[in-house]
Amino acid sequence: MGNTSPLPEVRVCAHAAALARQVAQLWAALASQCVAQQGRFSVALAGGNTPKAAYALLATHPYHETLPWQQTHVFWGDERYVPADHPRSNYRMAYETLLAHVDIPASNVHRILTEREPEEAATAYEQTLRTFFALPEGTWPRFDLLLLGMGADGHTASLFPGNAALHERRRLVVAPWVEQVQAFRITLTPPVLCHARHVVFVVSGREKAHTLHQVLRGPYQPERYPAQLIRPVQGTLLWLVDKAAATLLA
Ligand code: 6PG
Repeated sequence: MGNTSPLPEVRVCAHAAALARQVAQLWAALASQCVAQQGRFSVALAGGNTPKAAYALLATHPYHETLPWQQTHVFWGDERYVPADHPRSNYRMAYETLLAHVDIPASNVHRILTEREPEEAATAYEQTLRTFFALPEGTWPRFDLLLLGMGADGHTASLFPGNAALHERRRLVVAPWVEQVQAFRITLTPPVLCHARHVVFVVSGREKAHTLHQVLRGPYQPERYPAQLIRPVQGTLLWLVDKAAATLLA
């Protein structure tokens, strides 16, 4: 995750609905391209609230009928350590907004198994990735699309400021205790996030404007702003932000 990657593209959308449309259009274009080229499309979902509108849009016309759901494989960038049917589950959010409404095979939905102990859930998810991507030792999975959100504290996925998970460079998945939320999280590690082919941050709301400015225009201090860690290795990076979040960006 060195400083060699190009400056990220920042696209400012008028409002959250326009942001959702951008995500759906990017997803659709990539899904079609990847299925045509490699027969499948792998996407790692962001959790939280911001992506909900995009997921819901993908469950409607024309995406519902036209996207290659049979060849689409869904993963998560991170998960809260709660049961899959818990109101705070990222899996449940994606299932209710999108997965329950499209023709995606259950075997293509690679949920993080939070019914296991945290460390076991991480190990099982890591094995899922190694199997799906048929990874030789020492190589990283490369999601075709990685959607990420950003918290007002600069965290992304479940990589929180000051957390040891920020320094993980060997494992694909870890299960850190997160002081800021007083709970375990299961998260992809920085190398995995940085090896995605196309990384798209989706950020909305005035409450994130200061942090977004710091992340994009401030000094490189990923301990404080983990979102700065995400510098794709041979991948693209796009920030889709609404006007409110972009308030402080020139
Ligand atoms: C999670 C997410 C997390 C999220 C940010 C932003 O599990 O909460 O993966 O990284 O993307 O916290 O969340 P909002 O979109 O709700 O602001």
